[in-house]
Amino acid sequence: METSTLFVFLSLSLFFSDCNFPFHVHASQSNHGTAKFKLIHRHSPELGNFHGTTLGPPSNSRERLRQLMRSDNARLNTITRRLFPRRKNVHVDIPANPNLVELPIRSAADIGTGQYFVSFRVGSPPRKFIMIIDTGSSLTWMKCKYKCKSCFKDRASQHERILNAKTSRTFRPIPCSSNICKQDLARSFSLQHCPRPSAPCSYDYRYSDGTTVLGLFGNETAIVRLTDGRKFKMPEVMIGCSETIMGEFHDIDGVMGLGFEWHSFALKAAKKFGYKFSYCLVDHLSPSNLVNFLVFGEINDPTMPKMQYTELILGVVNPYYAVNVSGISIDGKMLDIPSHVWDIRSGGGVIVDSGCSLTQLVNPAFNRVAAAFEAPLSKFKKLSTSSEGAEPEICFDDAGYKESMMPKLAIHFADGAKLMPPVKSYVLDAADGEKCLGFTSTPWPGSTVIGNILQQNHLWEFDLLNSRLGFAPSSCTFE
Ligand SMILES: *[C@@H]1O[C@H](CO)[C@@H](O)[C@H](O)[C@H]1NC(C)=O
Ligand SMILES: *[C@@H]1O[C@H](CO)[C@@H](O)[C@H](O)[C@H]1NC(C)=O
Repeated sequence: METSTLFVFLSLSLFFSDCNFPFHVHASQSNHGTAKFKLIHRHSPELGNFHGTTLGPPSNSRERLRQLMRSDNARLNTITRRLFPRRKNVHVDIPANPNLVELPIRSAADIGTGQYFVSFRVGSPPRKFIMIIDTGSSLTWMKCKYKCKSCFKDRASQHERILNAKTSRTFRPIPCSSNICKQDLARSFSLQHCPRPSAPCSYDYRYSDGTTVLGLFGNETAIVRLTDGRKFKMPEVMIGCSETIMGEFHDIDGVMGLGFEWHSFALKAAKKFGYKFSYCLVDHLSPSNLVNFLVFGEINDPTMPKMQYTELILGVVNPYYAVNVSGISIDGKMLDIPSHVWDIRSGGGVIVDSGCSLTQLVNPAFNRVAAAFEAPLSKFKKLSTSSEGAEPEICFDDAGYKESMMPKLAIHFADGAKLMPPVKSYVLDAADGEKCLGFTSTPWPGSTVIGNILQQNHLWEFDLLNSRLGFAPSSCTFE
């Protein structure tokens, strides 16, 4: 049986220096344990029953990779758009009052590109929703009815995965006259329209693929499952009650925004569970029965390998998580890549993004890596690749291939940590008889993005309180 390989779509929003996040405050350790979400990959048969055209198992492995590449392309465009405006400020410290022109930034959700899903319960009585996890936006919303009489009269409503906010005992609309609506939620597209002070704060949320959702903000109770199996109620989670959805979104119930803003689900959950979350990615190109989780809180597993840590650079390339890389080595030998490629302050830098499948290297880095693979790949017949955007560029006929023929690649971080992915995370099965290097090139200046395939077979811990990223090889079978 083929599986739901997993995971997440992470790259939380970073905080701005003027935000009133409680991170400077001493965080009290919570003893709520840990909360976990099962992560379902978009190619999982579990999602195959949707009406959507792109969910569930693809028809073949080539189509599988293609779908992921298309997603990468859309996502990369978003990343580029987002990073560049910020870069204009490179020589200045992060402004005390961030330039509002670049905000509200568009969400990176790129509906079509969501790759990982979770199920999520909200409301009283609770309803279950299948949500895309998005790292680049902070609003968690679902199909919902509050004011509208005739919304969702189409076949989607037959699923009943619609929140009835009007009858939910725990739903509290945010008033449009509140500062929360007028200021804090401005980045989440709140509207100024306020017919009466107590009228709900409404939004017009646009994703970069053109999908638009209209609705109103409210506090609602969410129910998460703890690792010990108990359910835990989280009151006053900010959600969006979406009454109108325009675009290709009819088959999904909503989005879980993991963006790092005070009202985001990620921050609320992180706060409750020790300011930490982790995910572990297994090989999603090969069939497996492993189920993966996104976990908020400390994972206490004695079998867990010791983690290496590197600094998480927060607040520089909002909303993404950046890391300080010092180089790439092949078989222990550092490649001669110019150091500005890794420097976030001079147009380069490296982002860890589980929303991207392949690893995107800026040209100067890509060329050195490609050159280092020339000799080992010379024994194989090169296959032509399409020049369409984010497709892998170096592919070959794998007759006679053995992993041991490939060099060992490592990513070195400035503080000494070293990521050594298994060969199958950078020499990918693209189709029957065909393998490709899991790297694509992007123009310089630009960001290098460590994609989710390179992150596979590792546990990743985002420690927000200590601004550090931990990682360790893992079979992802911990509880
Ligand atoms: C929503 O929840 C926030 C955070 O707990 C709280 O500060 C706010 O007053 C709540 N608003 C309403 C309308 O319940
Ligand atoms: C990255 O590491 C180098 C070397 O330790 C250091 O000089 C530089 O300031 C770091 N960059 C960032 C953005 O932290």
